[in-house]
Amino acid sequence: MYYPLVRKALFKLDPEHAHELTFRQLSRLSGSPFEFLIRQSVPTKPVSCMGLSFKNPLGLAAGLDKNGECIDAFGAMGFGFVEVGTVTPRAQAGNDKPRLFRVVEAEGLINRMGFNNLGVDNLVNNVKRSHFGGILGINIGKNKDTPVENGKDDYLTCMEKVYPYAGYIAVNISSPNTPGLRSLQYGEALDDLLAAIKNKQLELQQRHQKYVPVAVKIAPDLSEEELIQIADSLVRHNMDGVIATNTTLDRKLIQGLNYCEQAGGLSGRPVQFRSTEIIRMLSNELKGQMPIIGVGGIDSLTSAREKMAAGASLIQIYSGFIYHGPRLIKDIVTHI
Ligand SMILES: Cc1cc2nc3c(=O)[nH]c(=O)nc-3n(C[C@H](O)[C@H](O)[C@H](O)COP(=O)(O)O)c2cc1C
Repeated sequence: MYYPLVRKALFKLDPEHAHELTFRQLSRLSGSPFEFLIRQSVPTKPVSCMGLSFKNPLGLAAGLDKNGECIDAFGAMGFGFVEVGTVTPRAQAGNDKPRLFRVVEAEGLINRMGFNNLGVDNLVNNVKRSHFGGILGINIGKNKDTPVENGKDDYLTCMEKVYPYAGYIAVNISSPNTPGLRSLQYGEALDDLLAAIKNKQLELQQRHQKYVPVAVKIAPDLSEEELIQIADSLVRHNMDGVIATNTTLDRKLIQGLNYCEQAGGLSGRPVQFRSTEIIRMLSNELKGQMPIIGVGGIDSLTSAREKMAAGASLIQIYSGFIYHGPRLIKDIVTHI
C-alpha cells in the first residue's frame, strides 16, 4: 500500500545508494517487532519441481541479495523461494560505479555490477543464520581474475561450500558483465563444465547423503541453433533444471531513452518478450525432460502467466519487484 511512496523517495536517490539503504532497513526490520511492516500473507500454491516442494511458484531472482543478507525479509514478503548470489569463491568489488541505471520510461534496469560480492564463505555464514522456510537457491559464478579456462575450478569450489546449505544450486554462465563468462555457454567449454559439475554433484551427494539439484542459468541473446545445442548438452549431462533468462545486451526496445547507451545487461519490461520466446523454444526442445525456471520482465499477473504458459514451472522477479514492490508478489501468487 505504501510502496508507491517508498518508491518515490528511493527513485530520487542513485539506484545503488537506494539499494544499500533498503537493505539496511530490511535487515533491521526482519525479526524485529516491526517486521509486520514487510510481512504479507499469501496463499499457499504448492509446486513440485526438481524433486523439491515449493510453497508457491514465485521466487526472487539472483543478484538482488548477492550476499544472502535479507533472506528472511524476502521470505516474509511471500516469495516461495529466494535465489541468493551470484557469489564467487573470493570477495570482489565489481566494476567501477556508477554501474546501475534505471530506464524508468520502459520499467527497465541496466546493470554492469560485475559480481560484486563478499565471497562464498560470507554467504554461507549468512545462510546459516537465516530462518527462511522456503527453498533457498544459491547462484554461483567465477571471480573476474580467474582466467576463463580455469573458470570450472571456481564453480566447483563454490559447489563444495554451498552444497550442504542449498535447496538448489544455480550455475550462472550468462552474466554479460564478467568478460568471457558467456563463452561457457557453447560447445566443448559447456560440455566440459557440465561434466565436471555433474561429477562434483554426485560426489557431494555421497558425502552429504542428500541430493541437491543443479540448474543452469542462460542468456536471452542466443540464436535458436545455439539454444538447441545448449538444451541438448543440459539433457546429456543430466542437469536438473534451466533458468531462462539473464539480462540482455540488446537495446532495440529502449532506443532513445535515458541511459540506453550504458554498457551492461538490460532487464525488466524490455526483456520480457525475448525471455518468453526463449522459454517457449526451450520447452519445445526439452519436451518435459527438465523443468524451466522463467525469469525476465515479469511485471504483472499477466506476464507471469505468459511465462508459465510458455513452459516455465517456476518464475522469478527482480526488476518488476523494484518497480512495483511487494504488492506484485501478492498479486501474482494469489491469482496464478
Ligand atoms: C542489478 C542486477 C543485478 C543482477 N545480478 C545478477 C547476478 O548476480 N546473477 C544472476 O544470475 N543474475 C543477476 N541478475 C539478473 C536477474 O537475476 C534476472 O535474470 C534478470 O534481471 C531478468 O529478470 P527481471 O527482468 O525480472 O529483472 C541481475 C539483475 C539486475 C537488474
